[in-house]
Amino acid sequence: MKIIMLGAPGAGKGTQAKQIADKYTIPHISTGDIFRANIKEGTELGKKAKSYMDAGGLVPDELVVDLVIDRIGKDDCKNGFVLDGFPRTIPQAEALTDALNKIDQKMDFAIDVDVPDANIIDRMGGRRACVGCGATYHVITIPPKKEGVCDRCGENLILRDDDKPETVKKRLDVYHEQTQPLIDYYKKEGILKTVDGTQDMEKVFADITAILGA
Ligand code: AP5
Ligand code: MG
Ligand code: ZN
Repeated sequence: MKIIMLGAPGAGKGTQAKQIADKYTIPHISTGDIFRANIKEGTELGKKAKSYMDAGGLVPDELVVDLVIDRIGKDDCKNGFVLDGFPRTIPQAEALTDALNKIDQKMDFAIDVDVPDANIIDRMGGRRACVGCGATYHVITIPPKKEGVCDRCGENLILRDDDKPETVKKRLDVYHEQTQPLIDYYKKEGILKTVDGTQDMEKVFADITAILGA
């Protein structure tokens, strides 16, 4: 099963993608997590990506596309994968479609986790992300068992640099301008499904599994 998670920053793509990956035993591929890991390791890619990310902009397509196409060619992706944060522009979507066409494949579902901007602003300030495994928490709605420590891997939880209110606003603008058009792109491909992302996370996940099937 090959799945794309669409949705604004903070809509809950990562939260849902992790659960999908666990339930269907397919890899969760988050370009944001890949960039953050590279920044942490101090790689060339991380250095290039950081300035764009901190400013709330998108990393240029040429730094993203090959990385993802490579990743989905790996052995563990044979039974499918869930893409979180990619594609994010029409050229990225076209590159993905072309790469899959070449091996006679296509994506199965594009799931849009729909959340209005006003709810997003509230969510981001409370989000804490694990530097080890990328798991996300929320200080009020989804707190970790021990403050500041990841339930899954025991690493520290941090407030992401790009979760400052001004940067969140910029990310939302960029989303509406460059990523939202993908909703129409995948509607035309016939694989778009929309879920109401303002519900609690268990209900959102139940709606997604109803779409994907058991
Ligand atoms: P990325 O890491 O993908 O960030 P994003 O799209 O802005 O999305 P987020 O991770 O912020 O939100 P999410 O939808 O995953 O929400 P989450 O589940 O955490 O990208 C970061 C940056 O990297 C980009 O800005 C860009 O610069 C660059 N980048 C990445 N991919 C790129 C690409 N393909 N091309 C170019 N540049 C790229 O949930 C948010 C919060 O809400 C959490 O606290 C969570 O606990 C809580 N929450 C989740 N669900 C619920 C719920 N149902 N109810 C209440 N709270 C909830
Ligand atoms: Mg995420
Ligand atoms: Zn962790």
